[in-house]
This record gives sequence, C-alpha cells and structure tokens, in this order.
Amino acid sequence: MMKRWQFVKRLAPLMAMMVLVLAACGREDLSTLNPQGPVAEEQFGLMKLAILIMGLVIVVVFAISFYVIIRFRRRPGDKTIPKQVEGSHKLEIIWTVIPIILLIILAVPTVQSVFNLAKDYRDDPDAVKVIVTSHQYWWEFEYPELGIKTAQELVIPTGKTISIEAKTADVLHSFWIPSLAGKIDTNPGGNVNFMYFSAPKEGVYLGKCAELCGPSHGLMDFKVKSVNPASFERWAAALQEPVALPSDPAIAAAFESKCLTCHAVGDMGGPAFPNLTGIGSRESVGGILVNVDADDKKYNHEDTVYNNLYKWIKDPGAVKPGNLMVDQYDLTDKEIEGIAKYLSELTLDYE
Ligand code: CUA
Repeated sequence: MMKRWQFVKRLAPLMAMMVLVLAACGREDLSTLNPQGPVAEEQFGLMKLAILIMGLVIVVVFAISFYVIIRFRRRPGDKTIPKQVEGSHKLEIIWTVIPIILLIILAVPTVQSVFNLAKDYRDDPDAVKVIVTSHQYWWEFEYPELGIKTAQELVIPTGKTISIEAKTADVLHSFWIPSLAGKIDTNPGGNVNFMYFSAPKEGVYLGKCAELCGPSHGLMDFKVKSVNPASFERWAAALQEPVALPSDPAIAAAFESKCLTCHAVGDMGGPAFPNLTGIGSRESVGGILVNVDADDKKYNHEDTVYNNLYKWIKDPGAVKPGNLMVDQYDLTDKEIEGIAKYLSELTLDYE
C-alpha cells in the first residue's frame, strides 16, 4: 500500500505539467485545437481519432498491467515458477492483429484526407486565387485575378475557397494559419506548392512562419482577415485607387526618396517590398506590432497605429532583427513623425 502511494506521488508533478501544457494549447487563435474552417476541422478530426485510439490503447494496456502486477504478484513463501507463455500462438496472434486493426482504422480516414486536402483549386473559377510569396521576414499576397498586391494581411471573403500558390523570394519558410489550415512550405529553387482553405466566419486569424528562416523567424507573423464578400469587393476596389503623397512637401519628398524606392503605395513606388496601401487599417505594423490598444483592447486606434509605425520606422532592427529595412535610410525625427502620421492615416474604408 505504501509503495503504491509513493508511485502516485511521483506521478503527480508529471500530470500537473501535462495539464498546464495542454491548457496552453487552447489559448488565443494560434491553435489547431479550435478549428475555424472546414480544412482545419478535417485535420482536427484526424487528430481526435488518433488521440482517441492512442488513449484507448494506453487505458487498456495500463489496466491489464496493473491487474497483472497486483493479481500475480509474488506472495510470501511462494517459490513456484508461474506458468510460462513463451511461444504461445494464441497470444502472439492477438497482440499482432489488434494493432493492425487499429492502424487500419487510423489509416483509412487519414489517406482519404490526404487526397482530399491535396485538391487543386487553382483552375476553379469560383475560388479566390492568391499567390503567397514569403520573404525574410514578411508575407506578400498577390491576387492575380484582381491585379492587386498587399502584405502582412491576407484579406479573404467568407465562405469562398481560397486557392493558395506558395513560393519564396529567398529561403525556406512555411505558411501556416493554425485555426484555418495546416502548413505548406515555400521552398527555394523555383518550387511552387499549393493548398486551399476557407473561413466560413468573419474574423481575424493569426498566421505564422513555421520553418526556421533566420533571426526574426519567430516574428514572421501575419493575419488572415475574413470579411463578408461585399466588404471584400470594396477592399479590392479601394486597393486600386490612387493614393496622394503626404501634404507637407518636405515629408512628401522624404517619403518619395527614402521609402518609395522600395515600398509601393497606390500606383507609386517599387513593387519589390511590402505594399503599404491601406497600412493604417491593418491589424499590425510589420506583422508583429499589433495595433491593439493596451487599455481598451480596441484595434486600430489612430494613436496606437501611429506609435507602432513610429517605433518601426525609427528602428526596424530592434523590432525585427536582420530585416532588410535596417540601415537603408537616414531620416530626421521630424520626418519619421511626419511619415508615421501619413501612414497611420493611409486607411482603406471597406468594412
Ligand atoms: Cu520565415 Cu520562419
């Protein structure tokens, strides 16, 4: 009795740790355990099936073990050798056939899902096509049918199938929206991978880079914003509108000569680096400085967006070490303030 109690006492911290680890999984929207779309649901279904089977095996094996340990324990004064079962065909068949049956139960829906999730919607006229290009350390989203490009925030219409074509501009990254769909790698060497997903509900879903790609890998976040189809149309149209330069000529000159050499806004600037059109309405700056007010938890308050933009432009290397903006420009504090203000007001009205 004493020994069994000791055993439970030793097991307790392990159990407590498991509860903590499992509880942490359910937090926020970066969870595969809280699926928000059919693709994630299908994947979660497979996880549940696998966990159920494993749980069942654990329970049965432990129950039998405990029973045997207690029932057939050595009793005081007992010197006999127990009945030997080595080479028993009956037992060997039982413990071979049961795992085979369990594996078949697991394999059939898994293989089905593998083919189901590999469907190619790139030629489907009803699907919204998005070319995802990963960069160190940001995401580019191009809608080839709509002729628009954006960055960091993938806006999609609810209910529609989103057909993703994923590639990289530099190193290996992985495109992952845990609550909507499993990940897809973006491989160097001109390789293009595809996947699809959909979000039936309006909402904002957190995305992550899921392959170690450099010092800011862990900061390579993006958002998927699912809006109703009418809002999506408005967003796509608004993104094609021309954008005015800052009204202050000095700020406009600084913005043109220092920012637009790489970045694009409206129909101005270079196409190679994150398109800034509508950056004032995005949920984050640089994908990682979330535009949520610390006090009232409201998104996109003008001051929060401004503060994040200021912080980012002032020292991008402090926010995302190793990114390509580091040491690319020399701006006075007044110019940074002016540009941050201008960008924070560069909003798209579509919701
Ligand atoms: Cu990109 Cu990790």
